[in-house]
Amino acid sequence: SVEEMEKRVADVKQQLGTRLFIPGHHYQKDEVIQFADATGDSLQLAQVAAKNKDAEYIVFCGVHFMAETADILTSDEQIVILPDMRAGCSMADMAEIEQVERAWPLLQQRFGDTILPLTYVNSTAAIKAFVGLHGGATVTSSNAKKMVAWAFTQKERIFFLPDQHLGRNTAYDLGVPLEQMAVWDPTTNTLEYDGDMEQIKVILWKGHCSVHENFTVKHIEHIRKTKPDMKIIVHPECSWEVVQQADDAGSTKYIIETIANAPSGSKWAIGTEMNLVNRIIKQHPDKEIVSLNPYMCPCLTMNRIDLPHLLWALESLLEGKVVNRITVPKDVADGAILALERMLARA
Ligand code: 13P
Ligand code: SF4
Repeated sequence: SVEEMEKRVADVKQQLGTRLFIPGHHYQKDEVIQFADATGDSLQLAQVAAKNKDAEYIVFCGVHFMAETADILTSDEQIVILPDMRAGCSMADMAEIEQVERAWPLLQQRFGDTILPLTYVNSTAAIKAFVGLHGGATVTSSNAKKMVAWAFTQKERIFFLPDQHLGRNTAYDLGVPLEQMAVWDPTTNTLEYDGDMEQIKVILWKGHCSVHENFTVKHIEHIRKTKPDMKIIVHPECSWEVVQQADDAGSTKYIIETIANAPSGSKWAIGTEMNLVNRIIKQHPDKEIVSLNPYMCPCLTMNRIDLPHLLWALESLLEGKVVNRITVPKDVADGAILALERMLARA
């Protein structure tokens, strides 16, 4: 039963004490997040992982790229575990290192040495390493603006991977017009652009989040019509049109804080992942809160981490077995850390 599983997880936590550390992303299910020692968005979780020097086992409740980042930022002796290896990220899967290695020389040919690569942390360790070795940095949704602004102090152009929406929304926020942004299509190895290429300031990888893509202008129009006094807040992984028409946009952390600080009785439609929206609804019974998409939008891969998988990973430790260890090879980690440290130094 659920109660029995919960009791067994609590038992393992007690037995292992500080030898065990469980970070949990805000998009995780309640049944999992209740056992997290730290909750946060991807930036906060990267920071806690970097700070934790004590835990022998870091059982990461989030997705694969986050566990990779935790492995890179912790010491060699610390073991990072992902309770279900199928917890990937469809956005991270949209950029493969081979594709990036194919794109880069073509872009160099066209633009010379004027481009700095930046990658959203939602990417493989290999891509972080590529970016790190080419002078660039990682970004998250909470520091994207700061990092893109920094990138423009380094080079004339940026190459933003793998989320075109976060890249476009952030660059637009910083004053780059859409006409100066082009999309790189990794399946055809071409730049989607029909102006004078010299104008291009931002090259966006053609990737997106399959969860945030489900919030559309139609949903916004529906709220405007049916609930004209409701405010709409969305994550910057939503499309440019959606972000422009919403009242506010920001990272997971920003959304949580904005709703928490909003006055009692205020009304909100939120465009982000379902587990988080449901949790925010529960935490604020004094506010009227709905999902911007009435069918809600779960992240199927985040949801792979559930109570049975968490329990299995934890009880294996008691039996002296490490299951689902995430290890980033040293040569990859050495490059990736350059990109991560450039971000953490500024975040
Ligand atoms: P943040 O945690 O940076 O807001 O990113 C959201 C997300 O999609 C994580 O996978
Ligand atoms: Fe990836 Fe989107 Fe899921 Fe985040 S919400 S893990 S970006 S698919």
